[in-house]
Amino acid sequence: MNTLNLTSYKEDLEKAGRILRKGGLVGIPTETVYGLAANAFNGEAVARIFKAKCRPMDNPLIVHIADISEWKPLVSKITPEAMKLAEKFWPGPLTIILPKSDLIPDEVSAGLETVAVRMPSHPVARDIIKAAGVPLAAPSANLSGKPSPTAAAHVLHDMEGRIEAVVDGGECGVGVESTVVSLAGDVPCLLRPGGVTLEQLRETLGEVNVNHAVYDQLKEGETAPSPGMKYKHYAPTAKVIVLRGESAEYIKFVNSHADETVAAICYDEEIPLLNVKTISCGKMGDNDSQAHYLFDALRKVDDIGAKIAYAHYPSTDGVGLAVYNRLMRAAAFEVIDL
Ligand code: TXA
Ligand code: MG
Repeated sequence: MNTLNLTSYKEDLEKAGRILRKGGLVGIPTETVYGLAANAFNGEAVARIFKAKCRPMDNPLIVHIADISEWKPLVSKITPEAMKLAEKFWPGPLTIILPKSDLIPDEVSAGLETVAVRMPSHPVARDIIKAAGVPLAAPSANLSGKPSPTAAAHVLHDMEGRIEAVVDGGECGVGVESTVVSLAGDVPCLLRPGGVTLEQLRETLGEVNVNHAVYDQLKEGETAPSPGMKYKHYAPTAKVIVLRGESAEYIKFVNSHADETVAAICYDEEIPLLNVKTISCGKMGDNDSQAHYLFDALRKVDDIGAKIAYAHYPSTDGVGLAVYNRLMRAAAFEVIDL
């Protein structure tokens, strides 16, 4: 596997573009998390993504574009609401679902009648799409079920030997995946919270429903509107437990359970006060910084050999809702009230 570190920007992008055009797979940086990209019009190439990630075939992919003009051919119709969102939040961490056009292979939409599209704001991501000359289907570049990658090293860790190349664009800024909103029904519906907040969506569109799986666990056998919601996600091998309470109570609880096997996914300010191995999950009261560090923190739990990791119950305001949604899944919804 090639690591393209962009020391010669133009040549590396051309190389990535060539690999993608030939049906290969390339790990690409975006402002949210790293993606595992293939030519969205090439069903065979897209099928290789599922194999490389061990991803269930019924979980559809997001199609990434570099310019708004590339959107129209992918969908049956761009509604006024969809245009409003795109004008406000693209390029950026928002994915919009609409009924698909015939150009979208079944491998991308996993048999659904809709397609998810987003225009990333990361300049390298957009330059790679331009170099490939086609829209790119790209899920997060992790092995299915593992925390999403926010650095090229995470992609190498999960994908070495499975894909042709990774483009190293440094650490991702947002740190959690894009917001997924469906405009395929009567009322816009938030399927996955992310970098664009629910508050921002409601300011722009008025009424926006929130699928209950954003907050809660799906019940056994329940149909998921977004197939990704029904799978165990973001989980390290170690057990993650979420503690709900004030910082002082968190510190007391963790210190009274201290041993070799325990780690704390804590705020920077708490590090000096804890008697266990600590992993920073950003600054206290700062949702953006917590989103930025979350996936790296979940990966570190296994790296340092912990068996149990105690995390904080996140705020559900703003980007906090995305942190809450990912962390609760990583913890299989296990919460202890302090
Ligand atoms: O930030 C992101 O969105 C990253 C970067 C690489 O762009 N991509 C990403 O892709 O997170 P992925 O495949 O890990 O998550 C896509 C989610 C899944 O939960 C999937 O089920 C849902 O979007 N999805 C995709 N197409 C859909 C559709 N047509 N209808 C409903 N849900 C869809
Ligand atoms: Mg993913």
